[in-house]
Amino acid sequence: MDWKSPKKTNVLSTGTPDLLREAVAQAARLLETGQIVGLPTETVYGLAANALMAKAVARIFEVKGRPTRNPIIVHIGSLEMARQCVATWPELAAKMAAAFWPGPLTLVLPKTALIPDIVTAEGPTVGIRWPSHPVMQAVIQACGFPLAAPSANTSNRISPTTAQHVWEDLGDKIPLILDGGPCQIGIESTVLDLSQSSPRLLRPGMIHAETIAAVIGHLSLDSMPDGEKLRSPGMLKKHYAPKAKLVITRCHDGLELESIIEGFKHTYSNIHVLTFNGTTPYLPADRIGVMPREPLAFARCLYSELHRCDTHGADLILMEAPPETPLWSAIHDRLKRAAA
Ligand code: TXA
Ligand code: MG
Repeated sequence: MDWKSPKKTNVLSTGTPDLLREAVAQAARLLETGQIVGLPTETVYGLAANALMAKAVARIFEVKGRPTRNPIIVHIGSLEMARQCVATWPELAAKMAAAFWPGPLTLVLPKTALIPDIVTAEGPTVGIRWPSHPVMQAVIQACGFPLAAPSANTSNRISPTTAQHVWEDLGDKIPLILDGGPCQIGIESTVLDLSQSSPRLLRPGMIHAETIAAVIGHLSLDSMPDGEKLRSPGMLKKHYAPKAKLVITRCHDGLELESIIEGFKHTYSNIHVLTFNGTTPYLPADRIGVMPREPLAFARCLYSELHRCDTHGADLILMEAPPETPLWSAIHDRLKRAAA
């Protein structure tokens, strides 16, 4: 594939048992020696390092240009490994793990001394997650240690959902990316804080607040004071943004869309539209993305579509607003931050 050719980063396929074995072995070798590797998870691609090696984790901050106040999620491959990372394991954590792990849920709990301070941005808690992606699971098993991994993108950009996204953004800066195909979920995990007296949702995700509440009986959704939001930067107002300006619009038909586009044509020269309704004659076909009307499918392709607009040099992305129902809440959360 020619998108892999001009950069130094090696991209390995995992498409057959032999290729998977070789790719996992190479990734584990690099991670053991303190290097960082791009790895697929079911949510988004991660930029992984040995979570127990402060120097390796420092490299993640360097490559992403990530502020050191932003804590990194630790990916584990068993309950036993999870327990080594956290100082407490409340009944609620056991319940959440039984219901949702492996899967797109991160639990925040008090950390043990095993986890270096750089991972948690000097804070007393650590976010842990058992990912379900088979490639990520195989790498953690091969390593035998947990992997610290934020999304594999330059800080403040949208998360990558394919190996190609990682390669385009970080190629030349990292030695290896494993290609595990497009991510099945497509947006980042739900982050649930269990370190306080009552559970708090720090970042909505495709495991919905309602689903969590059904398992635990209740969920406090208190908004956090701004000072505290700094401890969980995923909660900051502007985050996960495409290069182009993103505007969410409500329009009912093609005519209304046309007048909205007309209004923006004075200021923007490369307008792309992401709509539920398909074609509009007012833009070239390659500047229109048709989005699915179902939230799981929408989340799966959202970042890909935003990446595609960026790659095509869009200066404005007009996106038709999704429905305002609970199943769309994590998507609204990401759109709000991307459009801020
Ligand atoms: O789905 C995901 O969670 C992906 C994949 C790779 O696992 N990872 C991811 O990492 O999205 P990142 O670094 O892009 O976002 C992690 C966010 C932080 O910005 C913060 O909001 C929250 O998770 N977080 C992590 N550790 C935390 C902690 N100890 N306390 C509070 N929030 C934490
Ligand atoms: Mg991120």
